[in-house]
Amino acid sequence: MSRPELQAPPEIYYGDSEAVKYTKNTRNQQIQADLTYRALELLNMPPDQSAFLLDIGCGSGLSGEILDEEGYVWAGVDIAPSMLEVALEREVEGDLFLQDIGQGLGFRPGSFDGAISISVLQWLLNAETSHHTSAPPHRLHRFFTTLHSALRNPSRAVFQFYPTSDDQIQLITSTAQKAGFGGGIVVDYPNSKKARKVYLCLFVGGGGGQQQVPAGLNEEAMDDDSVRFERRRQRERARDRSGKRKKVMDKEWILKKKELYRQRGKEGVPRDSKFTGRKRKATF
Ligand SMILES: C[S@@+](CC[C@H](N)C(=O)[O-])C[C@H]1O[C@@H](n2cnc3c(N)ncnc32)[C@H](O)[C@@H]1O
Repeated sequence: MSRPELQAPPEIYYGDSEAVKYTKNTRNQQIQADLTYRALELLNMPPDQSAFLLDIGCGSGLSGEILDEEGYVWAGVDIAPSMLEVALEREVEGDLFLQDIGQGLGFRPGSFDGAISISVLQWLLNAETSHHTSAPPHRLHRFFTTLHSALRNPSRAVFQFYPTSDDQIQLITSTAQKAGFGGGIVVDYPNSKKARKVYLCLFVGGGGGQQQVPAGLNEEAMDDDSVRFERRRQRERARDRSGKRKKVMDKEWILKKKELYRQRGKEGVPRDSKFTGRKRKATF
């Protein structure tokens, strides 16, 4: 079976039935969660601070759910109405925007403290019509220049994606650099057929000094099950270090998050009460 991005444009491929099938698949849920945790590790946000993140190609919210869990406020963009419909039905916390990132993002300069994108960028490498504006270099350029402006200085954007050649990686990194980003490619488990993952780690500004591209994970002698286990262990250690997970239900954190939502004009934010900060019921 050929790769999804070669079969149809994303908004067609992720139609009603595929959007539901993709979201309900427990293997997808696990994979997207693992990739999001690793992207957050590479994003390296300062601990103990609320932050507003952009989830690029948020789909039905599998990646966004991890952002919620880790205590971030987020907004998501996606081109597929059916995926966003499922995200709405699942009552994800992020604000959702129907947008083709290849036409550029429409956010105000400096809107986000960081961005992640999980399993999306490869979709921009396929032209959908013969018009020059649908050629990948043109779409990548529009996307990266508008993303650069939508991010704060300094900040990071981390993309996990599935390239099929070095030429694709080269096109993506050089276009991002032309748009003003620093950074580069991080490859985890380069020698494992199944566990190998490619991340593009981009920097806006340097905060006075040059930012170093993080090292990829590399467990030479591990089989794929051990790699998965090791990654989970690393995540848990990182979580213990930052203490973010504990903070999610913390009263001060929830008040801050509500205030942020109110400032951004979100409707229906519950009023603060003496119960704020207690454990929520699961919403689905
Ligand atoms: C494999 S899904 C990943 C969704 C989500 N990030 C996750 O982790 O579950 C890829 C998503 O990229 C979106 N996408 C592809 N091309 C896009 C574009 N040009 N603009 C916005 N979203 C796009 C698709 O609609 C789809 O929801």
